[in-house]
This record gives sequence, structure tokens and C-alpha cells, in this order.
Amino acid sequence: MCGIVGYIGKTHAYPILIKGLKRLEYRGYDSAGVAMINDNGNLNVYKAKGKVADLEAYCEDKDTSGCVGIAHTRWATHGEPNSANAHPHYSASGRLALIHNGIIENYLTVKEKLVGRGIAFKSVTDSEVLIQLIEYIMQSNNLELLEAVQVALHQVIGAYAIAILDREHPDTIICARQSSPLVVGLGSDGAYYIASDASPIAEYTDKVVYLNDGDIAVLQPGHDLRVVNMDNETQHPNVKQIDVTLGQLEKGGYPYFMLKEIFEQPSCLRDCMRGRISVEGYHITLSAVIDYRDKLINARRIIIVACGTSWHAGLIGKQLFESLCRTPVEVEYASEFRYRDPVLYPDDVVVAISQSGETADTLAAIELARKAGAFVFGICNAIGASIPRLTQTGVYIHVGPEIGVASTKAFTGQVIVLSMLALCLANERHTISDEKYKEMVAELIRIPEKMEKALKTNEQIERLAPIFTYAKNCLYLGRGYNYPVALEGALKLKEISYIHAEGYPAAEMKHGPIALIDSEMPVFVIATRDKLYEKVISNIQEVRARGGRVTALVTEGDEQIRKFADHVIELPDTIECFQPLIASIPLQLLAYHIAVCKGKDVDRPRNLAKSVTVE
Ligand code: AGP
Ligand code: GLU
Repeated sequence: MCGIVGYIGKTHAYPILIKGLKRLEYRGYDSAGVAMINDNGNLNVYKAKGKVADLEAYCEDKDTSGCVGIAHTRWATHGEPNSANAHPHYSASGRLALIHNGIIENYLTVKEKLVGRGIAFKSVTDSEVLIQLIEYIMQSNNLELLEAVQVALHQVIGAYAIAILDREHPDTIICARQSSPLVVGLGSDGAYYIASDASPIAEYTDKVVYLNDGDIAVLQPGHDLRVVNMDNETQHPNVKQIDVTLGQLEKGGYPYFMLKEIFEQPSCLRDCMRGRISVEGYHITLSAVIDYRDKLINARRIIIVACGTSWHAGLIGKQLFESLCRTPVEVEYASEFRYRDPVLYPDDVVVAISQSGETADTLAAIELARKAGAFVFGICNAIGASIPRLTQTGVYIHVGPEIGVASTKAFTGQVIVLSMLALCLANERHTISDEKYKEMVAELIRIPEKMEKALKTNEQIERLAPIFTYAKNCLYLGRGYNYPVALEGALKLKEISYIHAEGYPAAEMKHGPIALIDSEMPVFVIATRDKLYEKVISNIQEVRARGGRVTALVTEGDEQIRKFADHVIELPDTIECFQPLIASIPLQLLAYHIAVCKGKDVDRPRNLAKSVTVE
């Protein structure tokens, strides 16, 4: 959660910080703040409740000068979103300022001790404890800031990415990470940038260092980057090249990132498959499968761990692996798996799926699996994030940065990667015929074109959306591969329009949710032509018989369902297991247009954050 930005160099820091916060706003947006040291050595901290634009307005008549600063956009964990709890937090003397992403779990114990020693706190956050502790250690032991940070971090338990300014040393920013992401950008003019991910840095430099857990970095312009650990042992940072383009970080004429990302899906999925599928030979090559072939094809079991939308992709993965590779699969919520003492064998393959690669629960599940000796395979979008660094191998989704909080292109990207992986393993395990393999690969190649067709439903859906804005509850039904699509469609609607929605296996409806159905309840049914088509038609009839209003997603040319559904959305045909890639699109568009009709801020839904780095 939360976005962190920092700059130290020769130019005015404030515009860089504000621009950076805007790029990171998808990570948290309940309050924001900035701290800068001006040319007279004053440490100015400004904070405001609300979005980055509110902070900007607040700062309009303030002194924002200075070439060094840190900034934060918050997603509150401890303490309501108000300006006192917003970051940066001052130390008691006003000499230091700190921003923090994460949770300090033992903050109450530490706080009690500090309060006992006469230190007054200005906020109720866990974060303020850190800066008060650091200053207390500095003063009582007469230590330098770096030494005090090292001592303090030994005393706290929890997750953090922090950055600290010291009024007495305006030439230095000190930052540190433990379980929360932090990237350092190396400017060509000796300047340094820091951020929670590379997006605020990309326009200034392509050279970055992803800090590792336990790293403490000392940034001094014109000096080499110094990285040590809590015991002051020197660490050797790995400089990486980032290839994020500015176009990927802008809305490009769309009113919202979510809509841009929905429309980008065909081209993003082509990028995801590029170099991995040969169009001539209809063959898939994944380097992870070449490198770890035996481990992967001999897996006794596959356990998929993920959260939210990525978990929905996992449910599709389960069906793909089971039907194509004949390997048993379990799909687990990472947050449950990590605390459940699961049974794991050394020949299990754990597949962790995550867009951000920073989801705290998924990271903890990986750690648990690795400790138990399982082999962990990562499917991730954000390059250089923690998940690809903690897993033995994996596949990047390569759909470019996803900024909209409601995941769209990352979901279809995950499904494409799972499809490629399942086909690749099935081919190696000889669980599908060569002919079927080639036929399926050929269809995978055609998916982006079919998605383009599915996107043509946009206008129809925009016209339909106002009909549903009154709804308090909606039901999404699907079977087989379309059941996870129903779950995902319902999640999209909940996230951005705040209408309660449930996704259900169509046949399970009669075991409970059918009691909810009346003429007020929109029911969205994914009823594409597959082996359960006739069964789904019966389920639609059950809804109709109780006065329910049905909107059906059907295969183009379907005349049967048109006769009794209230609305029909036609989609191009594909083979059953790839249907989710097509059927998700109208449901993404539906959630989007309903939310827009209701006047909601689609890219910044209330209470949510893009990357859930706290548990
Ligand atoms: C998606 O729309 C959600 N905002 C959320 O469920 C998300 O998928 C989940 O938090 C997992 O994130 P990850 O893929 O980055 O791990
Ligand atoms: N736990 C801190 C707070 O509530 C930081 C939250 C965040 O990462 O935004 O202020």
C-alpha cells in the first residue's frame, strides 16, 4: 500500500515529488504529504487529507523550495486518514522527517517506552514510532543518523520501506526496506530518486537498484550509492535497466486508466506471447520450462497461491492444468494458506500468481512453501518485484504497468501465461496429442484478434449500463471455465461501483442464492456455447421463472437464448478453455460503465489500493 517518493540532487525537488506521487496514487490515496529542506536549512513538512491534488492545493502558498525531499501517499492501516496521521512524520525535536510504507507490528510496546521517557506523539500511526525511536537513540547514545537507524531497525518487528530526511544533513537521504518495496533510481547527473516502484523514476533515468530486505541505502548526490545492512556490513547493489515507457504511464486520451487497460488487452497479450509462441511451428517455448523441465513435469501436485483477481486466474489455471496435464491442482488464497500449516511435499510445485509481485500474503505463502522444500514458480507482471526475486523461476506476464486499481489486462495476461504453461507441460508430459497441442496453440495466437471483436461490444454495454445503476445486488453465473469469469465480473462491479455482487457456479444457485432472485435483481449469465451450454440454459430458465432479469453473454449467432433473455451480448467463439479471455471483456466494460454512470472515480475506488503490501 502507499506510495513513497524521494529526490536528492541539483534541481527543485517539489515538482518531481508531486509528479511521482501522482504516478503512485493508485497505491493509496486517503492522504498525502511532502517534506523538503529549503536553502536556509529549514525542514518543511506539509500534509493534507485526501488526494495528491488536495496536497498540491494546500502547498500553493507554501515555501516548497529545496533540492531534497520525500513524499508519501497513504493507505491507512493505523489511524484514520487525517492530516495528523498523514506522512511525513516529524521527530520530537523537528530535526528529522520520515515516510513509511508497511506496518510496525510491535509499535505499541515501543511507543509505551518512548512515552514513558517523555516523548510526545502527534499521530496515532504505527509509523511515527519509528522516527521517534530513531531520534531517541540518536540523542541518548550520541550516534549519527545511520547508526541510530541500524539500532532502531533491530528493535522493530514488521514490514517497512522508509525514507528519512535530516535537517542537519541536507545532502543525505537514508532509506531502508524490509518486506515492502523500494527502488532507488540513479540519475545521470549524480542525483538519486526513490520510489515504491519504478513508475515515478522512469522519466528521469533507466538505471535502478531494487533494494533487498534488510538493505539500508545512503543517498548522497555525486557519491556512489552506499548500501549496508543493520549490522553495517556492506551490500553490493545490482544496477538494473528498466524499460517502462512514458506512454505506458499516461492515460493516452482515455478518461480512465481502467478503460485504457481494457482496450490495451489485445496488444498486451500479443506482447505476452511474443517470442514465446512460434507462429510457424505452432510451438510454445518458455525458458522456465526448459530450465526446470524435470521438476515441472514430474510435479506430484500443483498448488496455486494468489489473492483477489490473481486467485480467479488461478481457478482457470486449475482447470487448464488438470484437463491438459492431468496433474492435480489446488488453488489457495495466499492469506489462508500461509497460516494453515498446509501439507507440502518436496515434489509439489507451488505457483504464485501476482500482478504487483508485492502482495504481502502471497510473499508469505511463497516463504512458507520454500521453507517446506517445495519448488516455487512465479507468475508476475511487475518487473523486478519481490515475487520474481523470491521464486526459483517463473514467467513474466509482460502486459506493461497496470495502473487502474481494478485489474483487467493483468488478469487476461495471467490466463494467457497459465494457458501457455499448461500447454507446454502437457506437450512435454505427452498428455495431449501433437495435433491437439498445435490446434490449441494456433487458437491462442488468434485470441487477441477475437478480443478486438469482443471490445466492439463497448457501445452496446455503454447503452445498457444505466439500466443497472439502481441495483443494490447483482448475481453473476457461469459454469466450468466461465465460473471464475463470473467471480471476476462480480469482483469488478463491487470494486468500482460499490454494488454488491456475487459470482456463483450457475448450477449451485438453486442451493441458496435463488432465494434472492426477483425482478429487482440483475443476473448476468455467461452462456457461451460449450459442453455445459444446455445446462446453463436450464439455469437461465430457473432465474426467469422467478422474475429475474437476465443479461446473457452468448456465442455470436446464438438465436436460442435471445428468445428469453432480457439482453444478449454476442461474443466471438473460441475453444472452451480460452473462453474466459473473451468473456471477461464485456464484464470489465460493464463494471466500468456502471461505475461511470454512478459518478464513481473508477481508477481510485474507495478503501482499495493497488498493491496490498500489508497483510
Ligand atoms: C483486482 O481488481 C484487485 N484490486 C485485487 O483483488 C488484486 O487482484 C489482489 O490484491 C492481488 O494483487 P496482486 O495480483 O498484485 O498480487
Ligand atoms: N502503517 C502506516 C500508516 O497507517 C503506513 C501505511 C501505508 O503503507 O500507507 O500510516
